[in-house]
Amino acid sequence: MTARILVLPGDGVGPEICREATRVLEALQRDHGLDVELEEDLVGGAAYEATGEPLPAATLEKARSADAVLFGAVGGAQWDELPRELRPESGLLQLRSELGLFANLRPAMLYSQLAHASTLRHDVVAGLDLMIVRELTGGIYFGQPRSTRTDTHGRRQAVNTMLYTEGEIERIARVGFDIARRRNKRLCSVDKANVLEVSQLWRDVVNEVGQEYPDVELSHMYVDNAAMQLVRAPKQFDTIVTGNLFGDILSDIAAMLTGSIGMLPSAALDEQGRGMYEPVHGSAPDIAGQGVVNPLATILSVAMMLRHSLHRQDLAERVEHAVGDALDRGLRTRDIMDDEKQVASTGEMGGAVIDMLQ
Ligand code: NAD
Ligand code: IPM
Ligand code: MN
Repeated sequence: MTARILVLPGDGVGPEICREATRVLEALQRDHGLDVELEEDLVGGAAYEATGEPLPAATLEKARSADAVLFGAVGGAQWDELPRELRPESGLLQLRSELGLFANLRPAMLYSQLAHASTLRHDVVAGLDLMIVRELTGGIYFGQPRSTRTDTHGRRQAVNTMLYTEGEIERIARVGFDIARRRNKRLCSVDKANVLEVSQLWRDVVNEVGQEYPDVELSHMYVDNAAMQLVRAPKQFDTIVTGNLFGDILSDIAAMLTGSIGMLPSAALDEQGRGMYEPVHGSAPDIAGQGVVNPLATILSVAMMLRHSLHRQDLAERVEHAVGDALDRGLRTRDIMDDEKQVASTGEMGGAVIDMLQ
């Protein structure tokens, strides 16, 4: 049956990276029997400009009925002064929430060809293969109450609420354990239980769920230490499970271990395993429109889509190998450049991956 994929390019570099990812999907369709139908629509600042909303109802409806969504990036300084609910980022957050995409998989793998692109020493990152499982529809991103207000003296205050229910913790913990079970059977849960009640509950519930997974070695780490350990000795980790805000921050740290944030893909899955796929990075306004953005994070997100939503493990591996082969050819976008390599534009990098799919 033909799988329907909705492409939401968004803002900044979003259209440039989605163009390359779409070309990869089209090449798989043409040459490798992938049965898909692609449709594109508006989200983020682009949608706001056209419709007055960062997530128009039509986009949400199409996302609901699609078999998978490919998301570029949203945001830009020109929209930063809008009321929060109209900002491009709200469109992304609403999509995640409305589609129930609670489980965010952010794998950080070092392609050996990029060992020297990382700012960390080669021996620290060589062979890195880490999975961060981030809770994506709860925690401080969505907790109520939230507001900016004034006190009785007219002084401004602002409040956000970090709230997790045991049900929310339980289901993300299960995703973490299931993934760890298929990897090296080590799960590290990251929290701030020494200070926060919400983190103590997190730790208690993760321990309870852990009873059902005696074959997985569970450990706990405070988030400040985890940030340090990720840079000191990242290979000590196999699978990390953590909340929404901590996962956001730790995954950008993990990105640098792989050479560049332009290399990190992600999958956001619901309880049925339906998903939205997007690079971990943002709309990179500083380099948008120049044809220099690294499209590999988005292309690797397509590989995750092939694996998790389209059940084409074979094609997922083909894409991942093609990325390695393109790097072997010596092509590098600016963010992963090192000596004696050839500078590639966004289009050349995407084109090289497509050539290597054969
Ligand atoms: P960013 O990830 O967009 O960029 C951070 C830095 O990394 C920039 O210097 C950028 O040029 C570079 N970079 C990012 N992706 C790259 C790539 N593929 N190739 C080469 N270089 C790359 O983060 P930011 O600057 O903090 O945020 C910019 C905007 O993006 C903001 O509006 C923010 O809210 C938004 N944002 C959106 C998403 C998303 O849509 N998923 C994620 C993060 C940030
Ligand atoms: C990400 C982004 C988003 C987040 C923003 C743009 C809402 O930083 O996907 O990592 O914080 O989740
Ligand atoms: Mn982020």
